[in-house]
Amino acid sequence: MKQSSGRGILRLCLVFIVLFSSSAILRAQGNGLAQKPPMGWNSWYGNYMQVTDAMIRAQADTMVNNGMKALGYEYVNIDDGWAGERDAQGVIHGDKNFPNMKALGEYIHSKGLKFGLYSSPGPLTCGHRQGSYGHEELDAQTYAAWGVDFLKYDWCSAGRVYKSEMQAAYKKMADALKRTGRPILYSLCQYGLQKVWTWAPSVGGNMWRTAGDLDYKYDRVSLVGFQQDGLERFAGPGHWNDPDMLLVGLKKINEDENRTQMSLWCLLAAPLLMSADLTTISPASLAIMTNPEVIAVDQDPAGIQGHRVSEEGPLEVWVKPLAGGSKAVGLFNRGEGVNPVTVKFKDVGVKKTATVRDLWAAKDLGTFTGTFTADVPRHGVVLVKIK
Ligand code: GLA
Repeated sequence: MKQSSGRGILRLCLVFIVLFSSSAILRAQGNGLAQKPPMGWNSWYGNYMQVTDAMIRAQADTMVNNGMKALGYEYVNIDDGWAGERDAQGVIHGDKNFPNMKALGEYIHSKGLKFGLYSSPGPLTCGHRQGSYGHEELDAQTYAAWGVDFLKYDWCSAGRVYKSEMQAAYKKMADALKRTGRPILYSLCQYGLQKVWTWAPSVGGNMWRTAGDLDYKYDRVSLVGFQQDGLERFAGPGHWNDPDMLLVGLKKINEDENRTQMSLWCLLAAPLLMSADLTTISPASLAIMTNPEVIAVDQDPAGIQGHRVSEEGPLEVWVKPLAGGSKAVGLFNRGEGVNPVTVKFKDVGVKKTATVRDLWAAKDLGTFTGTFTADVPRHGVVLVKIK
């Protein structure tokens, strides 16, 4: 009896050693990028397939001039729609709207920004442009020669050529990128299939979409965003859950809803990729994108993804532990009228008495004991830091 329980303990120890060393190997395998959740811009929701070289340059210019760059936004990512045809050697080229990809990369770099691109492990992208299937090595080399710093790799048509080899398909491109010798952030997009968060870092992913597209809808933002609870243990420096791009500035959801998405994404330590045409956004949208105290929650050096601490009907409280011991707390109202939402300090690991600062308002609210309550608008949020 005693002997078998001894063996049990030994087996348990072995399991721990294997688990610990494999997670250490995973970390060591990383490309060293994305130590904080990546920040930048992506062309998709604002422009869909209608992308051009001039438009991308204009986004880079705007990101510098409107203060976004200074706050950490750095990637300028072209999504679907840039790829033209392959030449006789199989080398991919930009379409007529992208006559010189290398020059575009140089322009983006000259602004102190980084250049992102999009492809698919399948033969075609979702927008029916050339994918990288069968050309992975050459495409990786081409991207590196153009100065690409970020690749979003979107499953799309890959199901037609791969059966159960999704992980291998993603690893193939990661390995090809690695062989270029250029550090290229690798963003997996396969809509959260096969619990991607459990294996994405092992195939070289720095971030991975956890769900399908948000499209333009608050309902999708709410459904996907609040579904992220439980995924926090898979995120950390170098590898992040990605619930899709930010809709702020697209004029499809209202300001409270935009603040809800921005707050939740920051609590989730999610990548902050804006997708509206930055050259035409309103001052109100820019203010949502550029609140430094809110961005600091996302970029906090501890790199811990937040989680839900309570849920009462449509009222939810989420917490993100910050470096230094304070907590970022979101009081969310998914309901239809104004509602009071309460955070109990003991639920978020705060001592009885604490100071509370409203991050959107950049205002100290005072000292509170045991709880803090705020009236939260319909589909809105009050985001605070509790110390
Ligand atoms: C998929 C992705 C989107 C976007 C489009 C491009 O739908 O999920 O983010 O990249 O493809 O066609």
